[in-house]
Amino acid sequence: MTIATEPLPFAPYRELSNEHLSERIRAAKETLGSSLLILGHHYQQDEVIDHADLTGDSYQLSKLAADSAECRSIVFCGVHFMAETADILANRPEKIAERGGARVRVVLPDMAAGCSMADMAAIRQVEAAWDQLGEVIDTEDLTPVTYINSAASLKAFCGKHGGIVCTSSNAKAVLEWAFQRRKRVFFFPDQHLGRNTSLKMGITNDQMPVWNPHEDSLGGNSKDTIENSRVILWKGHCSVHQMFQAEHVHSFRKRIEGIQILVHPECPQEVNDIADISGSTSKIIETVRKAPAGTKWAIGTELHLVNRLKKEHPEQEIHFLSPLVCMCATMYRIDLPHLCWSLENLVAGTIVNEIQVKEDVSRWSLIALERMLSVK
Ligand code: 13P
Ligand code: SF4
Repeated sequence: MTIATEPLPFAPYRELSNEHLSERIRAAKETLGSSLLILGHHYQQDEVIDHADLTGDSYQLSKLAADSAECRSIVFCGVHFMAETADILANRPEKIAERGGARVRVVLPDMAAGCSMADMAAIRQVEAAWDQLGEVIDTEDLTPVTYINSAASLKAFCGKHGGIVCTSSNAKAVLEWAFQRRKRVFFFPDQHLGRNTSLKMGITNDQMPVWNPHEDSLGGNSKDTIENSRVILWKGHCSVHQMFQAEHVHSFRKRIEGIQILVHPECPQEVNDIADISGSTSKIIETVRKAPAGTKWAIGTELHLVNRLKKEHPEQEIHFLSPLVCMCATMYRIDLPHLCWSLENLVAGTIVNEIQVKEDVSRWSLIALERMLSVK
């Protein structure tokens, strides 16, 4: 397999119908056989999910990439940080040795599929914050915890500084791990996941200052606030989940008797506090699957997942929590034309849109990711 010097031109794929694209995707998958693994995040549109070999939340997808045995290429229908994580985990030194030196090539069908939350924390900002914090508190007592929704460079930072990665499904266990070792946590980039999880552990808002990377001094905090902190939260958020509001919850409860509110912990505290259940995308799916017919839900997470649940569970009454369209525009970049184009390039022996994390970043990130995978 070579890296494409002249990939198949993309423009003609835009002209094809979904039926035609699906047929060609199936043919490419058949040709590539077990050397190919297509992974799909739950927020992907249905047409794409239909072609995924395996689907999952961020934690499950990292496990699947880490455990991949036969495959030589992973086409990741998700966003950039997920493909980076897959590259790091699928290409651990022992895995490469098992394959006689061969790497798993990870492809992101559209390079524009990023994550606005991950973009809210750049490595130079995190390093600058760490240095400033070191002037006020002992950073030997501080564990950096990065949400998996972050660039690999932030995971590497955590690896180097005794820190760890978390996902929405294991954030509490990861914070417990951190507090068993040191007295404070620096949590980035999602303030809401950090706050919602810490509140459940009995940490109070006055012990959780928010670090604004755009403020010159101590992220906009006083020395006292930082000294008295237990969890320092980065001022980042998900633009999709930020849209859900407490008044949406009140309005559903007023209108529909017996409705249950099910949300993702990336939602703000005001929503999370009054929801009936909060959890990762997999927990949301499992909760709906296990509920008896006739259960009524208003769900606060990405629109494509909620619409899929509505289709799959006509026996239940499912509503989208917000009156507005809250969809992940970057996930949505992965569509059938990009999927078909990247697969047909693989068949032609060329790799387009390869995600390959730099060796030193990968080595340090792996340390933080392996710590996460070891937390039960
Ligand atoms: P999970 O699938 O891990 O719950 O994460 C949601 C998300 O925002 C992915 O970017
Ligand atoms: Fe990032 Fe939010 Fe999209 Fe998840 S839903 S990929 S956190 S922008």
